[in-house]
Amino acid sequence: MSTERRWSVAWTRATENLKVVEPSMIEVAAYAPRLSAYYNEPHNHAMLAHTQEMSVEDVIAHYRALRGEQGRPLVLLRDERLVGDADLRGIGGGHGELAIMIGDRSLQGQGLGTAFGIMAHALAFRIVGLTRTFVSILPENAASRRLFQRLGYEIDDSPPARAIADEPSDITMALGRARFEQTFERELAALRFAPTQASESESGLGSRGPRRA
Ligand SMILES: CC(C)(COP(=O)(O)OP(=O)(O)OC[C@H]1O[C@@H](n2cnc3c(N)ncnc32)[C@H](O)[C@@H]1OP(=O)(O)O)[C@@H](O)C(=O)NCCC(=O)NCCS
Repeated sequence: MSTERRWSVAWTRATENLKVVEPSMIEVAAYAPRLSAYYNEPHNHAMLAHTQEMSVEDVIAHYRALRGEQGRPLVLLRDERLVGDADLRGIGGGHGELAIMIGDRSLQGQGLGTAFGIMAHALAFRIVGLTRTFVSILPENAASRRLFQRLGYEIDDSPPARAIADEPSDITMALGRARFEQTFERELAALRFAPTQASESESGLGSRGPRRA
């Protein structure tokens, strides 16, 4: 039985309703087939540096493992349809690592990563209370590098930033809360935050699979 408090962030825009949601494990199970397809799509698979395909059960186990280590997995919904996911992991000392994916290739490059990135960081800084976030990026991932620059990230080769790199060639970047709040003051004013207090049985959902996305 899980009774942890989870949050959602909503942004009503001119042409679409965006939501970042900390899902229940029941919701995770419902989203897992689509997330599995997104993770295994060849370009996403390469950019996420996944070493193996992720089955539906692996996706559920990945979400469960993130929660188990106090991470904050997030699903990204556009007009109530799942279009990707994100997560905060390695949370400690006010710091955390962010990962994000717009899963549907046909929706990449249209501004969704930027919009959901703002929302996920709003949750990280305002709800989780982080003061600094890190990302680790493959050098060939031009979209990701540009996205995080756009969000205000700067190259960071300090020991805590390098600690999240999987490979020596990975690029590590960091963003502080004050800079983010200043850059996106107008967008942040449009976001709506809501808590969800859930109690759910999680029996029957697997616990096997890789630790990292
Ligand atoms: C990385 C990712 C989340 C970016 O989301 P997105 O919706 O595609 O990005 P946006 O449309 O918001 O664009 C963000 C910036 O990147 C630029 N960009 C987008 N796609 C690009 C590409 N293929 N090459 C170069 N720049 C690109 C955009 O022009 C924009 O920059 P600008 O604001 O200066 O114009 C998305 O492409 C994705 O999920 N990729 C696969 C998984 C992945 O790489 N995750 C990140 C792991 S670190």
